[in-house]
Amino acid sequence: LRTILIGPPGAGKGTQAPRIRDEYCVCHLATGDMLREQIAKKTPLGTMAKKIIDAGELVSDDIMVGMIKDQLENNKACKNGFVLDGFPRTIPQAEKLDSMLETRKEKLDSVVQLQIDDQLLISRITGRLIHPASGRSYHRQFQPPKTPMTDDATGEPLVQRPDDNVDTLTKRLVTYHTQTGPVVDYYRKKGLWTGIDAAQSPSVVWDNISKAFKAST
Ligand code: AP5
Ligand code: ZN
Repeated sequence: LRTILIGPPGAGKGTQAPRIRDEYCVCHLATGDMLREQIAKKTPLGTMAKKIIDAGELVSDDIMVGMIKDQLENNKACKNGFVLDGFPRTIPQAEKLDSMLETRKEKLDSVVQLQIDDQLLISRITGRLIHPASGRSYHRQFQPPKTPMTDDATGEPLVQRPDDNVDTLTKRLVTYHTQTGPVVDYYRKKGLWTGIDAAQSPSVVWDNISKAFKAST
């Protein structure tokens, strides 16, 4: 399976992608998680990315394409396919992905857009908690961990993302609609697009994603 999850901040990409990874034995490439890893390690790239992420803007296409290219070439888990979460976010990223896949003689099966009104994303984003090492996400009300502020699997502390505040969310939404909106049309024209109602519960969203995959593969 080779698929892309597109959706606004809080739509549920990071909630659904690990299920796809586990069900289809593919790699889960989350560009936001990769950048947060660089920030945690305090690398020069991380320092540069932090300013951009906290402003709700996008890191340069060249850097992001390089990260995906490196994973596709070197991550053995990607041999069986992939789910991309947070990439491509611009038309140049989508075009570069096409040429990478062409070189690899691989084809995308589907592009799933998680559709939800901006209004509903405020509570999802402001209530989110994450486990930094794994990228696992929880929600204070909608998806609470077994023990407050603690990761179920490791017992390590959960944190709030610095970009998960109303001001930055507003900017992230503008960025999504202006820069990533055209990516949706790009895949629609190629006949790869499926829209899913992302306002449903996580299990209903998952059922609908599975159905879309069965129809496309
Ligand atoms: P990234 O980390 O990708 O952030 P994002 O796209 O804004 O998406 P989120 O992670 O906020 O949302 P999600 O859809 O994963 O939601 P989740 O499942 O966690 O990117 C961060 C930044 O990095 C970008 O702003 C940009 O600066 C930079 N960047 C990344 N990729 C880039 C690229 N390719 N090019 C350039 N720059 C790039 O769910 C949210 C919350 O809701 C959780 O608490 C969850 O528990 C809850 N929830 C999920 N589903 C449901 C449901 N069905 N019902 C109720 N609650 C739910
Ligand atoms: Zn995410």
